[in-house]
Amino acid sequence: MISERLQYIIDVVPILDTIADIGTDHGYIPVNLIKKSRAKKIIASDISKQSLQKAKDIIIKNHFENVIDTRLGNGIDILDIDEADGVIIAGMGGILISKILETSYSNKFINKKPVLILQPVQQAKELRYYLYENNFKITDEYVMQENNKIYHIIIAEKHHKIDDRYDKIAKHKDIYMEFGIINIEKKSELLSKIIRNNIEKIKILINELSKKSVEQQHIDFLKDRLKNMEDIYYETWGTYPKA
Ligand SMILES: C[S@@+](CC[C@H](N)C(=O)[O-])C[C@H]1O[C@@H](n2cnc3c(N)ncnc32)[C@H](O)[C@@H]1O
Repeated sequence: MISERLQYIIDVVPILDTIADIGTDHGYIPVNLIKKSRAKKIIASDISKQSLQKAKDIIIKNHFENVIDTRLGNGIDILDIDEADGVIIAGMGGILISKILETSYSNKFINKKPVLILQPVQQAKELRYYLYENNFKITDEYVMQENNKIYHIIIAEKHHKIDDRYDKIAKHKDIYMEFGIINIEKKSELLSKIIRNNIEKIKILINELSKKSVEQQHIDFLKDRLKNMEDIYYETWGTYPKA
């Protein structure tokens, strides 16, 4: 049994010829993608020899050596030019994912625009900023919960210009980047709960900090964040969140 997070990633990967799984570690993603016939060939890579060995072991156990190629190395450097139709980078921080893209996406993809399936374990906001500011289009995104942890899954691809959705945001940009423009458009019950929880936590924090000698600047920042979140909640769900 794989985790719900990994199952979610596998379920949203489209059927493609060749998929690269960067930072594969245990190798569960490539093995399960082959089991589900999502790709004809997978390139599973990791920067750590020890991690890649774990992937090799599970690939051999499943007799998938002929369809899953393993490579040791940094990010997408391990790919040949235009080699993959999809690239999965999951289970890392959003800043690391953006660095991996920044380092070699443009050298490795000349005539192809692979589908990117990105799953930051933190810094989803920073990753979204990177993607939008560097002409990647977020085509879909999801938010899911496992063991009280929230995970974002972002599907993106290179675009010839800045994404219209991003261009049109006039206010609350930070909040849109934190939760995702498409996630907010989807108005899911889970996202509504996540934003309500955030609002409650900020209110408690403001209350606690107001009793201590904390710089007013810090409290003002939190109040501003609270107002932005309440506004987005109202604009999306049509009511102000109840406690
Ligand atoms: C926490 S594991 C995630 C494994 C799997 N992708 C998942 O979502 O469960 C992160 C893996 O990324 C690898 N990694 C970190 N930086 C990397 C890089 N620059 N290039 C390739 N792999 C990297 C680590 O060695 C580690 O095995």
